[in-house]
This record gives sequence, structure tokens and C-alpha cells, in this order.
Amino acid sequence: MIMQSLFQYFNTRLHFISDAARRYEHLHEFFVGRSHSSKDVSKSEKPVIAVKSFRPQKQLVWLITGTSTGFGRRLVRSALQRGDCVIATVRSLDADLDDEPLPEEFEKNLRRIQLDVTEGEECLKAKVDEAAAIWGRIDVLVNNAGQGLVGLSEEGGSSLYRRTFNVNVFGLIDMTTVTLPWIRESQGCIVNVGSRSAWKTELVGVGPYSASKAAVHAFTETLATELAQFNVRVLLVAPGAFRTEGIHSRPFFQDRPIAAYDNVRETTAQRFASITGTQKGDPVRAMELVVDIVRGEGTAEHKPWPSHLILGDDAIADVKAKSSKLMATLEKWESTGRAVSFDSSPVRSRSAS
Ligand SMILES: NC(=O)c1ccc[n+]([C@@H]2O[C@H](COP(=O)([O-])OP(=O)(O)OC[C@H]3O[C@@H](n4cnc5c(N)ncnc54)[C@H](OP(=O)(O)O)[C@@H]3O)[C@@H](O)[C@H]2O)c1
Repeated sequence: MIMQSLFQYFNTRLHFISDAARRYEHLHEFFVGRSHSSKDVSKSEKPVIAVKSFRPQKQLVWLITGTSTGFGRRLVRSALQRGDCVIATVRSLDADLDDEPLPEEFEKNLRRIQLDVTEGEECLKAKVDEAAAIWGRIDVLVNNAGQGLVGLSEEGGSSLYRRTFNVNVFGLIDMTTVTLPWIRESQGCIVNVGSRSAWKTELVGVGPYSASKAAVHAFTETLATELAQFNVRVLLVAPGAFRTEGIHSRPFFQDRPIAAYDNVRETTAQRFASITGTQKGDPVRAMELVVDIVRGEGTAEHKPWPSHLILGDDAIADVKAKSSKLMATLEKWESTGRAVSFDSSPVRSRSAS
């Protein structure tokens, strides 16, 4: 009898303690963020209480698109410097890939593969599956490849928009869908590089680019919701102007000139040409921050997952300006905009009841 009471007492305490631990874990997840799961630590070895930071306890495998220049090139280096493995995609393996040769210890963690994001799902799937076989998994997909064709909407027409969307939107979506089986398996994360141009749309010449990045933003936000159930995190990065080799370095679109636009075309082309080299944003610092966030380290340690990362003073100012403008318009037009509903609630039809 005494033994039975003692057993019941300890059993109740045990339930209480494990329940408290579970609650703590949920609270911790809510306020600090979920800890990255680690393949190295089996479920049975995992402590009941979540670790304080979401620093991954393993070497991550990154798949990064568009690494010949710009953000991509810097990100490869940043991830390797943290000890991670990188599969870096380039359109041409002959391209001069890094001015500074990588230290030898990094080379063993780096594989370069040829890939154009517009190749189509079937080709990309074969390449990504082959890439995943290198280290047996992919933890982080960075959709960085992009092109920034500039031109006037009437002159460029839908063909200029299509060319831009093929790379920036459909290429990014294809890369995402073919890599997702691996990312779901590793409960990893997807980083999509958008742009502040999705907010700063009222600028002559950026029509196709801004529209494509706005599509990337919308796609990414929906994706984040769809993937939450798999513990897959999604990060939307929206940089302002950064001093990369140049997303807008291609010649201004002038294949179908319309005389009425001669002046505006010329001044816009000159404006874009003068940007290169003057951008305030440092792409190395930006990519270090992305790695911090993905790994839950450095400036991102103990901080919740941001979901949106607006990078640069200019980008932050533009997002704020756009939000204020929208809020001001909403306030002025709110009552008018609301006064368009039916006066009474819908009457259910017989078949619907
Ligand atoms: N720099 C900025 O100020 C800024 C601002 C906002 C957003 N972004 C975004 O940041 C990302 C990187 O841009 P960046 O500034 O680093 O420009 P970048 O130096 O021109 O780099 C773009 C990269 O994308 C690759 N790429 C282009 N088309 C491709 C395709 N069809 N398939 C595969 N790869 C392709 C390029 O490869 P190739 O060498 O073969 O052309 C290059 O490696 C882009 O998504 C861009 O929109 C940049």
C-alpha cells in the first residue's frame, strides 16, 4: 500500500516536470525561435528542454544559385568560412569565379555545378538530385540568381517582362520546387533574394525588375506559410543598392525605340549607368548577416527568425515611405472603400443549406 502511494506520488511529480518542460519548450520556440534540428543528434539523445539558441549543431549544406559574381560569390565564401559545405551553381564553369583564391581547407567543402535556372524543372531536378548526393542532403537553398534588365514598359512590352520573369520568378520557383523534397527532409531553410525594388516601384526603367521582385516577395510569403508545417523556415531578403558586380549592368533596353520616349530613355539610361560603384551597401557584410541568421549566430543569436530581411539604409527608408504612403491613402479612402459591400448579409440558397 505504502509502495503504491509512493509510486503514485513520484509518477505525478514526473508528469508535472515533463509537462513543465514541454511548456517551456513551446514558450521558448515562440519567443526565441525553433532550434534547428540536427541529424547528428538522434531524437532519443535530444534533451527535453530546447537549447537556448537555434544555432545549428551541424555543418550545413548550402545550395546557392548565381555564384559567379555579386552576392552569390560573397555568400559562398561566408558560408565556407563558418565551416559549412557549399554547392555553388554557375552558368558557366569557365567563368573566372573568385579574384581571391580560396584557402585550401575550404576547397574540400565546395563543389561547383553548372546550372541555368531557366533550364526547366526536369533538367534542374536531375542536377539538384545529383548535387544533393554529394553530401547526402541539402539544408539551405539560396535563390540568389537574378537579372535586372532595365527598360521602359511600352518599349520593352511583355517580351522584356517575360525575359525578366523567366529568370527572377519562374527560375526561382523551379529551383524551389525541385529542391524542396531535400529541404523538407532536412527541415532546413530557403532564402529568396528579392529586392527593395518591389516597394520602390515608382521609378522609370525598373518596371520589369520591380514587378518580378514583387512576384518573388508574394511567392515567398505564401511559401513560408505552406512550409511551416514541415518546420522549414523561409527568409525573404530585400536588399537596397549594393556594390556588387552589378545587377543592372546590362545595357538599357533600346531595341524598340519610340520617339516620344527619347528624352526619358536617355536620362534614365544615364542614371542607371552612373550608379555602378557608388552604392552604399557592402555585399560582404550583407551576406555575413544572412549566414548569421541561417545559423542563428553572431548578430542573429537569440533573435527570432525574421522572415523579412530588409537590407541597407535606402531599402529601409523606401519600405517605410511606401508603407506610410499606403497608410495615408487608406486613411483618406477607408470609409469610401468600405462602402461597397451589400447592405444585408447573404441569403443562403436552398441548395447551399
Ligand atoms: N546588387 C544590388 O544592389 C541588389 C539589390 C537588390 C536585389 N539584388 C538581387 O541580388 C541577387 C544577386 O544580384 P547581384 O547584385 O549579386 O548581381 P550580379 O553580380 O549580376 O549576380 C547575379 C548572378 O545571377 C546569375 N544569373 C543570372 N541569370 C542567371 C540564370 N538564368 N541562371 C543562373 N544564374 C543566373 C549571374 O550569373 P552570370 O555571371 O552567368 O550572368 C550572377 O552570378 C539578384 O537576385 C538581384 O536581383 C541585388
